[in-house]
Amino acid sequence: LASNNDDEKGYELDLFCVPKHYEEDLDRVIIPHGLIMDRTERLARDIVRDMGGHHIVALCVLKGGYKFFADLLDYIKALNQNCDKSVPLTVDFIRLKSYCNDQSTNRVKVIGGDELSTLTGKNVLIVEDIVETGRTMETLLSLLSECNPKMVKVVSLLVKRTPRSSGYRPDYMGFEVPDWFLVGYALDYNEYFRDLSHICILNEKAKVKYKL
Ligand code: IMP
Ligand code: MG
Repeated sequence: LASNNDDEKGYELDLFCVPKHYEEDLDRVIIPHGLIMDRTERLARDIVRDMGGHHIVALCVLKGGYKFFADLLDYIKALNQNCDKSVPLTVDFIRLKSYCNDQSTNRVKVIGGDELSTLTGKNVLIVEDIVETGRTMETLLSLLSECNPKMVKVVSLLVKRTPRSSGYRPDYMGFEVPDWFLVGYALDYNEYFRDLSHICILNEKAKVKYKL
């Protein structure tokens, strides 16, 4: 677990500003905040191009998706304000949980959110932080299909290169990332590190320090 063969190593921590309380916990920065924002701006453009013309219900997968959701919607709003074509946008939230410490558990729990039945007949954009095995998304998509939405698209900021993948790929993705446990930009380890702007590799010491 402590090493893998992926040669994408990101950036040294010292090149960027990280909160003092997390300095000891992180190995490297994989995606700096500014780069996340630039990529998100382009994803917004691609999504509006494909889904535009119809009302979109953006469904945020809490909690890890909240930063990406908020920033993506800001970019879609900016397009709506500045283009000839615009698309009405409403929001909805769902809470799923599949992780304990740094291990994906076999069961995906839905622990909150609105009734999925409100999505019947709608164009739904699911906004997720990271796809690893793909199990979370596959579970959510099968739950959602029971409610007969008109269209469902999935955007995930990150997709992990991992042998544990089921082969599931989202419709849109921000970046492919190496098979490390990543934190920051709302991605957490047992609720810590959501207050970190950059996406970083969590080190082995920190996994013990913040273990439940
Ligand atoms: P999957 O079901 O294995 O695809 O896992 C997806 C979910 O696990 C995501 O929604 C995340 O909440 C969580 N997850 C997977 N990998 C990481 C990671 O590296 N850091 C933080 N959360 C992760
Ligand atoms: Mg998530």
